[in-house]
Amino acid sequence: MPQYALLILPAFNRVYGESSVRLTLGELAVFGDRALESQVSGIGEAVIGGLPYVTFETGAPLPAGDVALLSNLSSAYALFGVEGELLRPLTMAPLDRLSSDLITIQKYAGKTNEHFTKLLLNVTVLASERRLDERLSVFDPLCGRGTTLNQALMYGYDAYGVDVDSKDFEAYTGFLKMWLRNKRFKHTAETVPVRRERALVGRRLNVSFAGSKEAYKAGDTQQVAVVNADTLRAREFFRPRSFDVVVTDAPYGVQHGSKGGGGLSRSPLELLAKAVPGWAELLRPGGALGISWNTYGGSREELGAILGSAGLEVAELPGFEHWVDQAIVRDILVARKP
Ligand SMILES: C[S@@+](CC[C@H](N)C(=O)[O-])C[C@H]1O[C@@H](n2cnc3c(N)ncnc32)[C@H](O)[C@@H]1O
Repeated sequence: MPQYALLILPAFNRVYGESSVRLTLGELAVFGDRALESQVSGIGEAVIGGLPYVTFETGAPLPAGDVALLSNLSSAYALFGVEGELLRPLTMAPLDRLSSDLITIQKYAGKTNEHFTKLLLNVTVLASERRLDERLSVFDPLCGRGTTLNQALMYGYDAYGVDVDSKDFEAYTGFLKMWLRNKRFKHTAETVPVRRERALVGRRLNVSFAGSKEAYKAGDTQQVAVVNADTLRAREFFRPRSFDVVVTDAPYGVQHGSKGGGGLSRSPLELLAKAVPGWAELLRPGGALGISWNTYGGSREELGAILGSAGLEVAELPGFEHWVDQAIVRDILVARKP
């Protein structure tokens, strides 16, 4: 049986420490179950030349399409075919279509780690009925300064977000405009007031861009829209069934207060209980919603019940629970819209 070894990105080990291999095992299992043509078996870990690898077998040699898909694993640094004691490098072909500084330049307290964000986006798309290499529409209803949005753009998707924090909204607006200018991408960007019955309820950034003038002229553009408002109003800003996936990192109840329903919610789950029904309406049938949350703020069962009562079906996924810091043990829950 052909054997393969995946070298884990060094940053992944730094961020997740001991959890990094386990998270990769889980993500690889989801790719194997939901995306790859090949039958993946024997997923395990190995130390080769003193470095941690995730190893696996397939029934037949990996076709190029599977190598391309695996190139998008959030932890993938390099992929090798194992030949006796030697490793033969396979040519990675990730979906990435923009330069990686889109995701790495912004640094701020409260940023969701970009590798973790990619993992959450990957498993959510794979749990949906969509393919990773389709042109998807992604919504992050608690988008902060846009880590999910940027990862979505990186994959060639359209990206939509809501965040109540004005500083985050302004920082992301400023960053994205500057990045597009520096890259000399043909684009339009406007910030407009959002009114309901004449009252101002928020601001909206609308961006449309393309990597080349020709693509821009041909209408082959990527869209970004971010609304600075309470996510409980998300349904007022986007039409029902607008998005293929909803992907979000919920407030941890530590660094960010959850600002739902007036004052500070006691638990981020209170915000989710109020917000998820609206987010679910924005999903297209066959789409999926993936949330990461701090398990100290509520259990998997509680969050599962919230998703279930919004008409979503919780997907069985391998364990992605991992330690972030003393106050945060983070986990992922993904649910499909029938
Ligand atoms: C864990 S952070 C997400 C960070 C984001 N993924 C990033 O990397 O920038 C949670 C976000 O939820 C936002 N938030 C909390 N309550 C909200 C509400 N009711 N409506 C909209 N946004 C809210 C906070 O402002 C914060 O940006």
